[in-house]
Amino acid sequence: QSRLETKWFGRKISYFDVIDSTNSEIKRQAEKEFIPGMLAIAEKQTLGRGRKERHWESPAKTGIWMSFAVKPDLPPYKASMITLVTALAVAKAIKDVTGLNTEIKWPNDIVIGSRKVVGILTEMSAEMTTINYVVIGIGINVNMESFPAELEDKATSLYIAGGTKVRRSSIVAKFGKYFEKYYEIFCKDGNLSGIKDEYEKLLVNRNKEVYIIEGDSRIKRVAIGIDTDGELLVKDDNGNIEKIMAGEVSIRGI
Ligand code: ATP
Ligand code: BTN
Repeated sequence: QSRLETKWFGRKISYFDVIDSTNSEIKRQAEKEFIPGMLAIAEKQTLGRGRKERHWESPAKTGIWMSFAVKPDLPPYKASMITLVTALAVAKAIKDVTGLNTEIKWPNDIVIGSRKVVGILTEMSAEMTTINYVVIGIGINVNMESFPAELEDKATSLYIAGGTKVRRSSIVAKFGKYFEKYYEIFCKDGNLSGIKDEYEKLLVNRNKEVYIIEGDSRIKRVAIGIDTDGELLVKDDNGNIEKIMAGEVSIRGI
C-alpha cells in the first residue's frame, strides 16, 4: 500500500527532481504560509545537510529525501523530542514494509548492523515561549547499491541490508501513519512517556558501554535508556545515573 492515508501529514506535497535541501525548502514555504504537515520530497538534493552543517549524501532516485513541518502547542525546548518521535516512526515503517530490524542511535540516527541507514534533522523557528514551526527532515537510504568511498563502512541502504529493492512511496505512506499516531500521543502528554518503552527497545547502545564526546572530552558510561524528556540516561562505574542532553554531544559505541 503506497497511498497516503493520513489526516494531516502530507496534505500539501511539493515534489522536486532537484532541490538544494528539502529542509531549506520547507522553511521557505513555512515562512510564507504554514500548513500543518506540509511536505517536500526531492529525488536528489545538492546541499543535503546533517547535524552541525555536515554534508548529507543525497543521490538521485535511490533515497527518500523529505521534510515536513508541524507546529506543536508546546514550549520551544520540547521541540527536540520530535526527533525521537520521528526515529521511532521511521523504524516501525521500515519494519512493516521490509521486515528489516533497525536500531536507533540516540538521538537522531537509525542503523542496521552499526551502519547508518537513516538520518533525521529537526530544525525549529521559535519566539521566546512559542514555537512558530518545526521542520523535520528525514533521509532514508533505500535502493542504493553502493556508497562513495568515504561512506562505504559507515552507511548502508535497505537494499544492501535486505537484498530486495523497496518501493519508496510505501515507506513514506507507512511513516505518515505512524508519525501521526506517535506525534499526537506526544503532544497530548507533552513528553515521551507514551513512546519511551518502544523507543528503548530499539536503542542500539542499550546496556552497552558508550563514549560521550563533547569537544575534546571523552567519557565512558553505560547507556541505560531515555527519560521522558528524551535525554539519554547513562550510568557511571559507581552506579550513578546522569542525563545527557542531545545537542553538541556525540555518542560512540565502544
Ligand atoms: P553524531 O554522532 O555526532 O550524530 P554522525 O556521524 O551521525 O555523528 P551527523 O551529523 O548526525 O553525524 O550525520 C552526518 C554524517 O552522516 C556525515 O558526516 C556523513 O558521515 C554521514 N552521511 C552523509 N550522507 C549519508 C548517507 N546518505 N547515509 C549515511 N550516512 C551519511
Ligand atoms: C543527520 O544524520 O545528521 C541528519 C541527516 C538528515 C538528512 C535529511 S535528507 C532530507 C532533509 N534535507 C536535508 O538537507 N537534510 C534532511
